[in-house]
This record gives sequence, C-alpha cells and structure tokens, in this order.
Amino acid sequence: MKICIIGYGTVGRGVVELIHKKKLDVTVVGVCGRNCGVYDEEGIDLGSLIDGTKDVGLDKYPGVRRDIDANKMIDMKCADVYVELTPTNVVDGEPGYSFIRRILANGCHAVTSNKGPVVLYYNELRKLASANNVKFLYEATVGGAMPVLNLVRENLRGNRVASVRGILNGTTNYILTRMGSEGAGFSQILKEAQELGIAEKDPSYDVDGVDAAAKAVIIANEFFSRDAHMEDVDVCGITRITPEFVSLAWKNGFSVKLIVEVGRDVLRVAPRLIERNHPLCVDGVLNAVNITVDMAREVTVVGYGAGKYETAGAVISDILSI
Ligand SMILES: NC(=O)c1ccc[n+]([C@@H]2O[C@H](COP(=O)([O-])OP(=O)(O)OC[C@H]3O[C@@H](n4cnc5c(N)ncnc54)[C@H](OP(=O)(O)O)[C@@H]3O)[C@@H](O)[C@H]2O)c1
Repeated sequence: MKICIIGYGTVGRGVVELIHKKKLDVTVVGVCGRNCGVYDEEGIDLGSLIDGTKDVGLDKYPGVRRDIDANKMIDMKCADVYVELTPTNVVDGEPGYSFIRRILANGCHAVTSNKGPVVLYYNELRKLASANNVKFLYEATVGGAMPVLNLVRENLRGNRVASVRGILNGTTNYILTRMGSEGAGFSQILKEAQELGIAEKDPSYDVDGVDAAAKAVIIANEFFSRDAHMEDVDVCGITRITPEFVSLAWKNGFSVKLIVEVGRDVLRVAPRLIERNHPLCVDGVLNAVNITVDMAREVTVVGYGAGKYETAGAVISDILSI
C-alpha cells in the first residue's frame, strides 16, 4: 500500500518514525510540508528523511522539492491512502478540509487526525467518501490514542449507543487534578502547566471547552447520526472553578472533571462532580470515555488523548485497517 503524508509536524513525524521503526508493510511515496514536498514513487528512504530532518523543518531537507506540494501530490494520485495531519482549525477547517475533499473526490482513501474538517463538514465528507467508494477514517480526532470511534464501529457492532460521557481534554484534566490534590488556584496551575508544555500559550481552546466541544460534535454525528455543529454544543469551561469548590468535592469523595455528554438529545461540555471510584474518574493528562450501549451495557476506555507516538499510533491503526 502506498501512502502520502500531508503535514510533517509532531504527528506526521511520529507516523513516519513508527512506520520505519516497526518496518510496517507500507510504502511512503510522499511527505508534504507547506509549499514543499519529498516524493519518490518507489518509496522514500525514511531513515535518511528522519536523520535529515532531526532538528529542521521538511523545507531544509536536502531531497525536498519546491515544485511539489500537497495539492500537486493529491492530483498525482500517487498514493492509495493520503494521511492528512495539518493543524486543526475549527473556524473554516482549512487547509485540511480542501485537502480531504480533493483526496476523496480523486477516489483515494483519507485518514486524518485533524478535528477541524471532521467537525465542520462531517456529513459532506462522509457522503463524498461513500460516493467515491473510498474510506475516510479519523480515529485520532477523538481521544488521541484511545480507540473510541473504531471501538463502537468494529468491536461493539450491533450495539445501539444510548449515551457517551467522557473526559476528552488532557490539559483541563491535568489542571483540575492538581487543583484537587494540592488545593492550588486555577491561574497558578495553568501557568505551571504552560511552563511544562501541557497547556498552550493561548489556553482558551482547552480551558473554555472548545476542544472538548469539537470532540462532542464528532461523537454526536458518528454515534447518533446527527447533523451537529459547534454552535449546538452547550459549553461551559473550567476558568471559574475555585480551589475551595474542588477541595470540598475532593473531601467528600468526588472530583471535578470537565465532562463531555452526548446522547440523542444531549450535547454538552461542562464541569461535573464524578465519584472518585467511578471508572471515568481518571487523573492527570489521561482521558476516559464511558459508552452506554444496549447489549454490552457499559464500556469504559482509558488512555492518552495526545502525544506524538500515541496519536501516530491511532493514525497507523486507521491506515492498516484500510
Ligand atoms: N499532537 C497531538 O498530540 C495531537 C493529538 C490529537 C490530534 N492532533 C491533531 O493532529 C494534527 C497535527 O497535529 P501536530 O501536533 O502534528 O501539529 P503540528 O506539529 O503543528 O504539525 C502540523 C504540520 O502541518 C504543516 N502544514 C500546515 N499547513 C500546511 C499545508 N498547507 N500543507 C502541508 N503542510 C502544512 C505545518 O507546517 P508549518 O510548521 O510550516 O506550519 C506543520 O508541520 C492537528 O490537527 C492536531 O490538532 C494532534
């Protein structure tokens, strides 16, 4: 199987390194950065690509070409599967949306870890994939390394999903966990999380619940065949949670968690009290999802929602499943 990777950042590099290290039976024919690309129809020498881009961007790699970019490589139809790993943008989904549309319209399979296009254009992209008889997979967009979408699609086949509750943002879970165990304030922990690289410089995407809301939309559309959009989510972030409230909850056997709740008529992200012995009550940067279905009753998955190799692992699972 020939693949082409679009976006050589953290996850893109993780995918390339894992394919190389694990000697997967996949030929990487293209890797695209912004306005540049590396292409070899026989398969790129991944060892040399990894070594040659250790401390620099793809544009500085000796074998890089300026006359080739993602759009060109998509139109060359040089790969069976295009792996779209550009930055998430929940405003217009670009550049990922145009890339994925072009890939599917060309009759090639697409795999992405980019929430933007999936959140904004879920039904359109699914229909386009089915009209062209190709697969469009995006496991890494919900809960990073945790199998959530494929778990229901493959392993819980035949079950009807009644509701989904989950912790789907590691940054806010880290902040709330430390507020609970140390009794410290939100701003102080946020500052330390930023210094540790756990929170972004602009933390609003996480702490205001936008990232969790995006995942809620994907779950609503995937499991409940809804036509949900970001504006349909009832969102409340964690910025107004006080250390006194978290400590009081902690002393009474509860933790405060930012919980995503999705059902046929529910679409919400809000802080909730969770009993400390509930399987959903995981700490630190961990994520957890609790799925209620009609046959298996309840299934809970716990794992890492982000990280270079963790996320790359979910992307590779989608590639191999195709
Ligand atoms: N990192 C994680 O743990 C994680 C977890 C789950 C999901 N995700 C999602 O996975 C995606 C990739 O994440 P990441 O952490 O790898 O992001 P990243 O490190 O910012 O990498 C994105 C890469 O895409 C490149 N890019 C931007 N525009 C492009 C274009 N038009 N054509 C080709 N390449 C382009 C960027 O190049 P420049 O540097 O030149 O801009 C950058 O190298 C994001 O959508 C993210 O939300 C990430």
